[in-house]
Amino acid sequence: MSAAPTPRVVVQNDAGEVADETARRIAEAARARVRASGRFTIALAGGTTPKRAYELLAERPDVPWGAIDFYFGDERAVPHDDPDSNYRMARESLFDRQSIEEGRIFRMRGELTDLDAAASEYEAVLPQSLDFVLLGMGEDGHTASLFPGSAAVLEEERRVLAVVGPKPPPRRLTLAPPALRAAREIVVLVTGSAKAAVLARALTGPIDVHALPVQIALGATFIVDHAAAADLPARLTSPGSSEENRS
Ligand code: 6PG
Repeated sequence: MSAAPTPRVVVQNDAGEVADETARRIAEAARARVRASGRFTIALAGGTTPKRAYELLAERPDVPWGAIDFYFGDERAVPHDDPDSNYRMARESLFDRQSIEEGRIFRMRGELTDLDAAASEYEAVLPQSLDFVLLGMGEDGHTASLFPGSAAVLEEERRVLAVVGPKPPPRRLTLAPPALRAAREIVVLVTGSAKAAVLARALTGPIDVHALPVQIALGATFIVDHAAAADLPARLTSPGSSEENRS
């Protein structure tokens, strides 16, 4: 069994600096990928943590907006203009601020009654390998809408699934592990003391993705604030602990 990858942990002073560093990394990755391939594909995270990062990204002058295609890591089964919609959050914090053309936004249609059909529809437009996936983490160790104990966490074929989870609203669409594992780069955002214990378990404990789905992204870069990093060992957070800290 191959050794678990060592996560790269970047610790920022507070949630504001996490947002700023995230926006900087997305802009940097987009520029590099557009130079290399002419296009940049990114799956956005939902929830509340990334909102400020999207607002800061929208203000940056160094982003090749016309070459970016936007996807989503997950979506709730609500109308696209519902306050619980991840798409609505991204529209308000990013798309509307940069007038991103509709053809470059690939929304998960959570409003469909048949969520399995919505999952298949999304799988058909999802690139085989996303350039960048932004993820959050819940206090139970979920990521996207892959929740502890869910069969979706163990999926090895499908790249998009319809799921029912404990976080309201329960019915959701989510990228499945094959889509996450195929991504060129993953960044996981974690802030706040409430997530410190589960983050430490995920990054230093035994590998059990069924119990801690965020461990699917152990090869990712975790951008965290001091509060979320409180229980992490110095080997993960001290300067020089990874190339991230040497950069
Ligand atoms: C969702 C998110 C979910 C989120 C985490 C963290 O649709 O709910 O995709 O995975 O990233 O629950 O949420 P917060 O950023 O609000 O803490």
